[in-house]
Amino acid sequence: MLRDDRAVVEADGHSILLLRVGGELHALANACPHEGNPLVEGEVLGDVLECAYHGWRFDLATGSCLLGTRPARRYEAELRGEEIRIRLDD
Ligand code: FES
Repeated sequence: MLRDDRAVVEADGHSILLLRVGGELHALANACPHEGNPLVEGEVLGDVLECAYHGWRFDLATGSCLLGTRPARRYEAELRGEEIRIRLDD
């Protein structure tokens, strides 16, 4: 479950960061596209996640890179009652 509104789950070889921000659930690969450090250590700034290591910034809704050069991988995820469903394919 989500503790402190963030959690990392492992599924089928994917390490996925779940963040709940303003009632919205976001799921991003937990590895920063810059050097692979864990995005779970980042800071949420409104609708943006800032990596704790070198400050790259990502739009939580799309994974697009706002500061840096490569986007974060984003997964479709939804909360259904007590269950979180994440789409892994693409
Ligand atoms: S590892 Fe995330 S900005 Fe460098």
